[in-house]
Amino acid sequence: MIYVKSADEITGMRNACRIVAEVLKETGKNVQPGITTKELESIADKKIKSFGAKSAFLGYRGYPGIICTSVNEVVIHGIPSSQKLKNGDIIGLDVGVLYNGFCGDTAKTFAVGKISDSAEKLLNISELSLKKGLESCSADRRIGDIGSAIQATVEKNGFSVVRDFVGHGIGRNLHEDPQIPNYGKAGSGVRIPENCCLAIEVMINEGTWQVKILDDNWTAVTSDNKLSAHFEHTVLVKREGVEILTVC
Ligand code: MF3
Ligand code: CO
Ligand code: CO
Repeated sequence: MIYVKSADEITGMRNACRIVAEVLKETGKNVQPGITTKELESIADKKIKSFGAKSAFLGYRGYPGIICTSVNEVVIHGIPSSQKLKNGDIIGLDVGVLYNGFCGDTAKTFAVGKISDSAEKLLNISELSLKKGLESCSADRRIGDIGSAIQATVEKNGFSVVRDFVGHGIGRNLHEDPQIPNYGKAGSGVRIPENCCLAIEVMINEGTWQVKILDDNWTAVTSDNKLSAHFEHTVLVKREGVEILTVC
């Protein structure tokens, strides 16, 4: 069931989402060659605490990190470690917080130093596909409209859409109905109600869409070890379109 938010619940979502956007921004500013993903996690941890919020990821289904740090071929759910970033890497930072009973969830993939032209193109097209997905979302449209817009943008540019992970409804829980695939047919799927909150997140691969999970049971990597990018916003759905809540 897709949960429709009351005015008070929307205020709660706005607050949680502004915080998570601040945390992502602050953490992203520190992305540079030589920093470890653990150090990035610790920067996010301090910022989350400074707002009196909590990580929505730590302990979620046993996840051991405060944020997700996904380097190069890691699609999502990279666990912060002693891995040092190097010039030319890309890193997806995914942050979720719980504040006053509500969750916010946002992700962005950053360049580490100077990256290759093909990596740059992957980041640009992935971010563009999220924008196209957001633009195709409004009250009374269907879930398939979102995935269809994302998939068309990605495939036209020679990249592929991950099938194994999807966007989601969000609210008091990190993951609520509906599931939002990043592929599909326009006009298909359930109708999107006004005043629901969705976390739309694209996971885009340079090569094959197929992924595998490493032995830590979390880290999702591309099957061909080529690059992958992740961008995510939590939005409020209105008649005229979405309001992006994860901005600051
Ligand atoms: N980042 C995922 C999302 O955006 C959820 C992470 S689950 C966790 O929906 F367990 F890794 F935290
Ligand atoms: Co996320
Ligand atoms: Co999410």
